[in-house]
Amino acid sequence: MTAYHDHGLVHARPVSVLPTGTVEPFDEERASRRKIAQQRSLFYLLVPWALCVIVLVTVGLIVFLTAGKDTTAAPSPLPESHNNNNTNDETPVVGWTWDLPFSLPNYTLHTLKYDTNYTKPQSKAHLWMKNDPNLHNYTEERLIQRFAMATFYYATVGEEWTHQGGGTVTVTADAAGRPGGRRQLQPPGGGSGGLKEVNITSEPWLSYNASECTWLSSSPLRKKEACNENHTLENLELLGNGLAGTLPEELGLLTSLTYIKLGKDNIGGTIISQFGSLPKLWGLHLFGSRLTGTIPSELGLLSNTLKGFAVQGNFLSGSLPSEFWQLRELKELRIANNPLELSIPNGMHKYMPKFRVLYAARLATLDGSLPTTLGLLTGLSHFNIEENAVTGPLPSELATLTKLGSIIASNNHLTGSLPSEYGLFHSLESLDLRGNMGMVGPFSPELANLNDTLEVLDLQDTSITGTIPEELCGLESLNFACSPSLCGCDCTCMEL
Ligand SMILES: *[C@@H]1O[C@H](CO)[C@@H](O)[C@H](O)[C@H]1NC(C)=O
Ligand SMILES: *[C@@H]1O[C@H](CO)[C@@H](O)[C@H](O)[C@H]1NC(C)=O
Ligand SMILES: *[C@@H]1O[C@H](CO)[C@@H](O)[C@H](O)[C@H]1NC(C)=O
Ligand SMILES: *[C@@H]1O[C@H](CO)[C@@H](O)[C@H](O)[C@H]1NC(C)=O
Ligand SMILES: *[C@@H]1O[C@H](CO)[C@@H](O)[C@H](O)[C@H]1NC(C)=O
Ligand SMILES: *[C@@H]1O[C@H](CO)[C@@H](O)[C@H](O)[C@H]1NC(C)=O
Ligand SMILES: *[C@@H]1O[C@H](CO)[C@@H](O)[C@H](O)[C@H]1NC(C)=O
Ligand SMILES: *[C@@H]1O[C@H](CO)[C@@H](O)[C@H](O)[C@H]1NC(C)=O
Repeated sequence: MTAYHDHGLVHARPVSVLPTGTVEPFDEERASRRKIAQQRSLFYLLVPWALCVIVLVTVGLIVFLTAGKDTTAAPSPLPESHNNNNTNDETPVVGWTWDLPFSLPNYTLHTLKYDTNYTKPQSKAHLWMKNDPNLHNYTEERLIQRFAMATFYYATVGEEWTHQGGGTVTVTADAAGRPGGRRQLQPPGGGSGGLKEVNITSEPWLSYNASECTWLSSSPLRKKEACNENHTLENLELLGNGLAGTLPEELGLLTSLTYIKLGKDNIGGTIISQFGSLPKLWGLHLFGSRLTGTIPSELGLLSNTLKGFAVQGNFLSGSLPSEFWQLRELKELRIANNPLELSIPNGMHKYMPKFRVLYAARLATLDGSLPTTLGLLTGLSHFNIEENAVTGPLPSELATLTKLGSIIASNNHLTGSLPSEYGLFHSLESLDLRGNMGMVGPFSPELANLNDTLEVLDLQDTSITGTIPEELCGLESLNFACSPSLCGCDCTCMEL
């Protein structure tokens, strides 16, 4: 305000509005009278103006000072009493940075579904962060990481997880250190099944006094370290820990995630498209939950990284988006037990040259015949299309796949014969063709060569004929109905 007075601007302004442009004939007396009259009218004009200015300035000052108090209070980085749990906080929320010292790119309180009642996972995570006595010790990256993890905890009903973390849990692990005590088919060195005990120590989820990297070990089924050396979360693994609720979009903030394994629980909702924006993600395992909806096309963005996608045992529907076939690093696709629609593309060997495992049993639709180009998927090791409606013959071209360990094609509508070329398999352990009444032709003697590797041969409910070679009679599991047309092993064959 002082600057205004110093430059005379306050006075100059009212004067400038006086009528000055009128030209009249010269007359000294009239001129002096007019001058007095002008000065008088100037006086009467100036007084109200000056009064106006004084009143305006005073009012302005009062408004400015009172408003100034409010605006300086609102953006303070942390409210004075940041330890209060007042969930009925009526203070208007004007922006995400209002009380947390970090910003989220492209996130607003609206997109975060923020609610001042603290009922939504995002708001609960926000409240949890507000109460953190060490809040200012973390870098922005860590704050965002902790916020995303806390949101994940609340969104999946962390309060009801089986293991909250804290203390030490002793679990049984296999020889490779994989918890869960998986059965070893071939114990290394003929040991005692390769089972051992491991102790897993962890801090409780959301504990303020411990790094969030120590929370994840709360799952006794954990396989990998949660964080790298820089305290950045890379593995999110909480199998069989009673998770429910839904997957929050905030998982997309954890951009260093390489491996996600959640499942054997009750997670509902959809597979979030934000998984497609995790540039390092190579394993996405979300099996045995209650996921619905379709497989997001955004997963196609992971074409340089994603190696394993496992969502078997959910309620996913629709067909695989065309973008999915761009995942050229993909090795394992496990989508069984979902109402999904799959058709195996003819050029799969071109799209996914490293492909190894297909587990596509019990889908809504998997029909049509098997493309002969499957024989060009040189890495294929497991092929399971159980209980679908696949027609046509088994391609003889598969015989060139030296790594193929199992063909599980039971309960389909396959026709044609069992190719004699299959005797060339080097590592086939399971051949399950049960329930394909359309399969005909003789069981070739060449298949006796499979005796070195084969453990399971199931020809029950097929129309295959001939004699099962003696070499195969000692298999771990051999199923076929003795009949005049198919015999061998323990069957008393009728001479035809
Ligand atoms: C805030 O809430 C947490 C958990 O709900 C509780 O442990 C803590 O004691 C509360 N703090 C205050 C100051 O009420
Ligand atoms: C943020 O949003 C703007 C406008 O919607 C968009 O152009 C931009 O790509 C987004 N940035 C990121 C990092 O998502
Ligand atoms: C907040 O809670 C009150 C009282 O329980 C309720 O009336 C109101 O609708 C809630 N607001 C939101 C945004 O959920
Ligand atoms: C956080 O920082 C404060 C001050 O720099 C320090 O006193 C405190 O010990 C730190 N807390 C942790 C958990 O590192
Ligand atoms: C696990 O912890 C128990 C109890 O503290 C201990 O007796 C056992 O030796 C530990 N096992 C291993 C493999 O460290
Ligand atoms: C953190 O606090 C919990 C409970 O108060 C305690 O059991 C645990 O040992 C603490 N952890 C650390 C690293 O201080
Ligand atoms: C950890 O941070 C250092 C320094 O920024 C970096 O050189 C290193 O590559 C990081 N490690 C990982 C695993 O990201
Ligand atoms: C498989 O059959 C061949 C020829 O009869 C025999 O030499 C070989 O020992 C058999 N292998 C096994 C594992 O039984």
